[in-house]
Amino acid sequence: MSVVETARRRRAARLLDAADAQRAAARALPRGIREYVDGGSEGEVTLRRNARAFEEAAFAPRTATWVDDPDLSTKVLGIPVDLPVLTAPCGGMRLVHPDGDLGLARGAAGAGTIHVASSAAGYTLEDIAAVDGPQWFQLYRFSSQATMENLVGRAQAAGYSALVATVDTAVAGFRSRDYKNGFSYSMRVNARNAVKLAPQLLPKPAWLTRYLLDGLPFEIPNTAEVTVDGKPMVLTEMTKGGAGSHSPTWSDVEWLRANWHGPLVVKGIITPEDAQRAVAAGADGVIVSNHGGRQLDGSPATLTALPRVVDAVGDQAEVLMDSGIRRGSDVLKALSLGARAVLVGRLPAWGLAAAGTAGVERVLENLRTEMVRTMRLMGCRSVADLDPTWLEAR
Ligand SMILES: Cc1cc2nc3c(=O)[nH]c(=O)nc-3n(C[C@H](O)[C@H](O)[C@H](O)COP(=O)(O)O)c2cc1C
Repeated sequence: MSVVETARRRRAARLLDAADAQRAAARALPRGIREYVDGGSEGEVTLRRNARAFEEAAFAPRTATWVDDPDLSTKVLGIPVDLPVLTAPCGGMRLVHPDGDLGLARGAAGAGTIHVASSAAGYTLEDIAAVDGPQWFQLYRFSSQATMENLVGRAQAAGYSALVATVDTAVAGFRSRDYKNGFSYSMRVNARNAVKLAPQLLPKPAWLTRYLLDGLPFEIPNTAEVTVDGKPMVLTEMTKGGAGSHSPTWSDVEWLRANWHGPLVVKGIITPEDAQRAVAAGADGVIVSNHGGRQLDGSPATLTALPRVVDAVGDQAEVLMDSGIRRGSDVLKALSLGARAVLVGRLPAWGLAAAGTAGVERVLENLRTEMVRTMRLMGCRSVADLDPTWLEAR
C-alpha cells in the first residue's frame, strides 16, 4: 500500500460518525466547495426540516430480545444489496476529491450496494460504469431532447441497470452561499479569477495540489458535446438553467419509459399525487426526495412526506427516500415508514473529501455498524420486519 493510501486509511479510521466526517470535510475543502456540498436553498428551511424530522421520530423498541446478527440485506428493483443505503447522484464530486464519482462507486460496491451515477458527474458515465458493482444512472434533461437521448443511449450501452429521472430541478434552487463564494462562476483557475479565489484556495494547499494534479476538472464530461458560447458546458451553466436546461417533465418521463429498456425511477417526488403520476407514466420506483433541501425551500421533510407516498403507490412501485440521512438510526426510521432503501448524498461526499475512496468506505461502514447496533437495541432481527409499529405513534 502506498504512503498516500496508508495516510488516507488512517484519516478514514478516525471518522467515527457523520459529524466527524463533516468536520474533516470542512478542514479539507476550500470554503466554496464546502458550502456547495453542505448548503441548502433560500432560507435552508427544508434543509433543517429534514434533520428535525429524523430527530423527532422516536423508536418503539421491543426490549429483552436478544438479536445476534441482524439482517440488513434486501432487494432494490430486483438487485440484492447487503446494505439498504445507496450512494445518491451528486454532481461536482471530482471537485471534492480526484477520486470523485469513481470513489463513490467503489465505496458503494465495497459495501455491497448500488451507486447512482450523476449525469453531472466529473467522470464520463462510461468511466464510472467500468467500476465493478451495480449502478444506476441519474438523468437530467440538460439543454435539449438530443442531449437527453444521447445520455440515455450511452447509459444503456454502458450497462447501467436502472435509469433515475430527477424531476425536482425545473431551475436550480438559489443557494446564496454559492453565489457569495463565487461558485456560480467557473472555478477554473485562470488569471482572471485566481486573485478572486486565492483567499479560499490558498489555505487548503493539499486540496489545491490535488486539484491541479487532476487537471482542474470543472466540466461535465457527459455533456462535452454541449457548448455554451462555443465552449464545453461547465457545471455552473447547467445549474443556471442555461441553454434551456431543466429537469425532465412528465412527457420526458413518458419518452424515457418508452425508450429505456430497464427499471425506471423518478427522483424528487414529495406528494402522493405526483407519486401516482409517476406510476402512471411507467415508473418502477419513486424516490421521495427534496434534493437534500437544495431545491424548493419550503418542501416538507421527506420523512414526513414518505408515508403518504407509500400509501398512494401501494405495491405498484418501490419507494425509496433521501434527504437528511446521517445515521443508521435515520435509515431504520425511513425503512419503518415504508422505504425499501434510502440514498445518502452529503455523507459520502464528506467521507470523500476527508480521505478519498477510503473515506466513502468508512462512512458507509459506520452506517452499517450503527444500523446493526440500533437494531440489536430495538430487538429487530431483520430490515424486512420493519413497519410503522417500530416507531412511537404520533
Ligand atoms: C453536492 C450535491 C450535488 C448533488 N447533485 C445532484 C445531481 O447531480 N443529481 C441529482 O439528482 N441530485 C443531486 N443531489 C441531490 C442528491 O442526489 C440527494 O438527493 C441529496 O443529497 C440527499 O440529501 P443528503 O445530502 O442530506 O443525503 C446533489 C446533492 C449534493 C449535496
